Amino acid sequence: MSNLIKIRDIRRDFRLGSEIVYVLKGIDLDIDKGEYVAFMGPSGSGKSTLMNLLGCLDTPTSGTYILNNRDVSSMSDDELADVRNTEIGFVFQTFNLLPRTTALDNVALPMVYAGSSKTDRRKRAEEVLTDVGLADRMDHKPNQLSGGQRQRVAVGRALVNKPSIILADEPTGNLDSKTSVEIMALFDEIHAAGNTVILVTHEEEIAEHAHRVIRLRDGIIESDVRNKK
Ligand SMILES: Nc1ncnc2c1ncn2[C@@H]1O[C@H](COP(=O)(O)OP(=O)(O)OP(=O)(O)O)[C@@H](O)[C@H]1O
Ligand SMILES: [Mg+2]
Repeated sequence: MSNLIKIRDIRRDFRLGSEIVYVLKGIDLDIDKGEYVAFMGPSGSGKSTLMNLLGCLDTPTSGTYILNNRDVSSMSDDELADVRNTEIGFVFQTFNLLPRTTALDNVALPMVYAGSSKTDRRKRAEEVLTDVGLADRMDHKPNQLSGGQRQRVAVGRALVNKPSIILADEPTGNLDSKTSVEIMALFDEIHAAGNTVILVTHEEEIAEHAHRVIRLRDGIIESDVRNKK
């Protein structure tokens, strides 16, 4: 069986003036379809750098990344944009919604890039917003929604093109604990529906939702543990 994600000796360094900062120092990682993974580790250990690579928002300095049997480590920006739009749903800590745009249009936006018709976009965005519990908030703009509702819109946007992977970098980082529990219940549902979910968190209670916890330290994988669930 082939892995959904297959990473071999991924390195990422950044040039800062005359210095080179070595951030990811050789990561090997396989993730199967349907897994529920949490990345943990100290601030600065490279979690977001790795998530950005997984999400095709960035490319490695060296090493290979095979996503769904395609080598994405050497793709052009245009090819990567296409992979991002079809394979990846990304949820950010700060929601990253368009401010003057309704929940419905925020969710439908990735379908515009995918070239879907207006009717299809509306139908699918309504369906997804209903799934994330916002059937009664479709015409609200982000500033008319609570933090938890904004994150639900962002989760809906991540799901709208039926991606292979949902990536979430500290999705509860800006939410209070009650709202975090609600958002994690939503991720649990999304996973139970057959999706592959990968998230970053600093909180053990959040990581407990995942079935596999990978700890990074100083740019390498320190431990990789599967929960007996
Ligand atoms: N574009 C960049 N240029 C230079 N250094 C960078 C760049 N992006 C990240 N880094 C460095 O890489 C290291 C890892 O950053 P990263 O954002 O991946 O950490 P993190 O594990 O997500 O931390 P946090 O838990 O605080 O979000 C940091 O030391 C950071 O300064
Ligand atoms: Mg980070």
